Amino acid sequence: MGLLDDVAKVLISEETLQARTAELGQAVNEIYDDTDRPLLVCVLKGAFMFLADLTRHLEMRHEVDFMEVSSYGAGTRSSGVVRILLDLERNIQGRHVLIVEDIVDSGRTLDYITRNLQTRGPASMRVCTLLSKPSRREIEVPLDMVGFEVPDEFVVGYGLDFAEEYRNLPFIGVLKEEVYQSGE
Ligand code: PRP
Repeated sequence: MGLLDDVAKVLISEETLQARTAELGQAVNEIYDDTDRPLLVCVLKGAFMFLADLTRHLEMRHEVDFMEVSSYGAGTRSSGVVRILLDLERNIQGRHVLIVEDIVDSGRTLDYITRNLQTRGPASMRVCTLLSKPSRREIEVPLDMVGFEVPDEFVVGYGLDFAEEYRNLPFIGVLKEEVYQSGE
């Protein structure tokens, strides 16, 4: 059985993802210019694919940096514990920061990241997330740009994983229930 056999349905096709990413890129182009030289903070690992596609639509001078935060084990539920696994290389004091996330679910991860980065004195801080699951929100976090609002289903692909797999799928799919239930 291959990876694709574990997918119950395609929620957002590759074509739709690419079109929306281009629109988000244009939205970012309207916010920043060369003098801002924004720093895009990619929240690993899930956002790596979105960041890679998003940056290809950007016209202003910018930098990318990476941060890895984990709040989940191998299962599907948030432990509520946020840990920094990898911190930024860059000092963000006085910088225009754009946080790039793949999904905002409970909001705990983003809440932690925004508070943490805010203490470092950025000139501005915004958030661009590909997906948002508003029905799961536990903490309200301001989102400046959202690609798609998704229902409370187990989504994988385009960077999003289940137990570190499925990140490579070029679309957002919903995993078959038996796949994630057998692991718990
Ligand atoms: C996912 C996702 C967000 C977070 C969202 O990361 O990339 O960072 O969970 O959930 P929350 O809003 O409930 O905090 P995960 O911890 O699964 O790590 P990964 O990106 O490396 O897969």
